[in-house]
Formats: sequence, structure tokens, C-alpha cells
Amino acid sequence: MSFQTEKLGGHMAAAVSGLDLNHLPDAPMQAALQDVLHDNLVLCIRGQALAPVAFRDAMARFGTPMLRKQLERTPECAEVNIISSEDRDALGDGRKIVNGANWHTDDSFMRAPCSLTMLYGVVVPSRGGDTQFTNMYAAYEDLPTETRRRIDPLKVVHKYHSRRKLTYVSTRPADEMAAMPEATHPLVRTHPETQRKSLYLNPNRMEYIVGLERAESDRLLDELIAHATQMKHQYRHVWRQGDIVIWDNRCTMHKANADYPEGERRLMHRVIVAGTEPV
Ligand code: OGA
Ligand code: MN
Repeated sequence: MSFQTEKLGGHMAAAVSGLDLNHLPDAPMQAALQDVLHDNLVLCIRGQALAPVAFRDAMARFGTPMLRKQLERTPECAEVNIISSEDRDALGDGRKIVNGANWHTDDSFMRAPCSLTMLYGVVVPSRGGDTQFTNMYAAYEDLPTETRRRIDPLKVVHKYHSRRKLTYVSTRPADEMAAMPEATHPLVRTHPETQRKSLYLNPNRMEYIVGLERAESDRLLDELIAHATQMKHQYRHVWRQGDIVIWDNRCTMHKANADYPEGERRLMHRVIVAGTEPV
């Protein structure tokens, strides 16, 4: 088995084809896939047809799959969640939920957020429903030296129901909320595998920068978010059915677009794998 690699965006994202993950890659091939991911931040594996257990098993080669109780799960495999155009806030007022409609990185309100997210396009709409990504290494490197020096030591409190949040988040059971501590993370983190520094922002979950007045904290966060999400740092993924897109939450942000035609379905299977505390 071998695979072909194609660059997708100018400065991030690559697609590989020629693989059928029903047959797990051997160790050298798995290492080669991980290299493509490290170099490109977003890795698309084209043309897959995987049942939930096979999807989970293939993703388990990249890390330890974690359970996500608050999202719907497939009956076949508890570690495979469902992201769907039919998602509704079942515990709240039943309104339509678009997971990830604003720029974010997954799970930053957790002490040890997931390292990677894998989304598998089972049913994709005829048009729209793209996922946008932004390169947070590039966003950091592109800052003036003086700004980098100033923000390098700063820490940010992230929480699920942030004061600054932009999107409606689904209602969670009280016990789950109580078990959800806020987390304090560095504003600039070092990737544990590549050793590269990146901006670590989550517009939807950041509450404040530790040690700054609220107004100053808000101003700096707004400025960094605007900087990081400039078009020049972005890649936009147009889904094909059978794509698995794996992204590295430690050095990217992403954003869903619910702009596909009314009445069309979008069904994704999703796995996340465990990460470590950001440093
Ligand atoms: C996610 C997410 C984006 C999308 O699954 O974490 O943000 O385009 N998904 O569905
Ligand atoms: Mn997300």
C-alpha cells in the first residue's frame, strides 16, 4: 500500500489518496501520514467508506479516542459522535444547533484539550457546508516582534459558557456542567511534537487574559482574533463524500458553515483523540 499526497492550500492542508483505512496502515506508513499532518496541520484522507468501528480503529492509530457524551453517538461505536444537519438542542429549547459556527479550537475549556479532531464526511451537501481553518503557527510568526515579546508570557482563562461567546451552545446536564472546570492556558503554546510556537485562541471560550483589566483584555483578544483569522492564514475545505479531515487543534482554529441548501443533509462522523495540557 502507498499513498499520493497533494497540497490543498498555499500554506497549510494536504490530501492523500490511494488508501483504504479498512486495512490499517503499517507503522512506516502511519508515521508518513503523521508527518504529512505535522507539516500541513490539516490532513484530508480521500475516498473512505468506513463503518463506525473501522473509523474509530483507524483514528486510534493517531492517538487515544475519547468519549464525548454531550454529542450524539453512533449505536455501533461510542467513540464515534455524530455531527448532523438535524442536530437540535434536546435538553434546551429544541432549536437547531450548528456545532462550531464561529472560529474555535476544540475543547479548550478542558484542562487537557483533545489534540486532534477527525471528521468523516458520510453525507455531504451538494454545495456549501465547507469547513474553514486558520494556521496559528503562521498567525504567531506574523506578529510584530514587540507584540510577540509582550504576549509570550500571558495566560488566558477559557470556559464553556464564556462571557465573550458568540454562538449558542447546547444545554448540558447540571452534573456535567459542575464537572467542567474552567482552564487556564498559555496564550502562546509550544507544540509538543513539532516544538513550534503558535497562538492559542478560542474566540468562543476565552474569558479573560490573567492580570489585565477586562477592557484591555478584550481589546487584545479581539485584536489577536482579527489578526489570526485574516484570509492569508486560512484554508477552506470543500467536502467530498468519503473525506476524512484530521486537524491539529494545537496549531489551528476552525469554523463550520451552515450555508448549504435548506432540506439538504450533512452527516459527519467525528472522533477526537486525547491531548496533553498546553504549555
Ligand atoms: C467539529 C467542528 C466543523 C464542521 O466537529 O469540531 O467544528 O464543519 N466541525 O462540521
Ligand atoms: Mn470544532
